[in-house]
Amino acid sequence: MASDLVRFSVAMPQGLLDELDAYAKRRGVRLNRSEALRDLVREYLVEEATVAPDEEVAGSITMVYDHHTPGLAARLDKIQHRHASEVISVMHVHLDHDSCLEIVAVRGQSRIVHNMADCMLGLKGVRHGKLTCVAVCQAD
Ligand code: NI
Repeated sequence: MASDLVRFSVAMPQGLLDELDAYAKRRGVRLNRSEALRDLVREYLVEEATVAPDEEVAGSITMVYDHHTPGLAARLDKIQHRHASEVISVMHVHLDHDSCLEIVAVRGQSRIVHNMADCMLGLKGVRHGKLTCVAVCQAD
């Protein structure tokens, strides 16, 4: 309902806005920017809310970062050492002169895994990042 909608302004780089428009176009001609944004926010929040904070999850933290950013590699390393119980495996790929791709396989309490991902992906110099995880099913 229109009366439930709240307007707010969002600032984003032109490139990201272009990508949002391209996403809206792919999803359907009648999807405008607001609808596309609502879609994406819901999708993200629902994904995060489906697992209880104390439930065990397994997944991966995937990120691309600029290894020239001072102190970044050390900070990422420190977070992983702090979460040694959650980190199962790490794959590091030197993409090119500036960029590294790192994929960290994780397993642990949802709350802890999400905190760890937030700490890593929020660091300056991390260009792209995503935590993908699912609840670890208990065998009956
Ligand atoms: Ni590298």
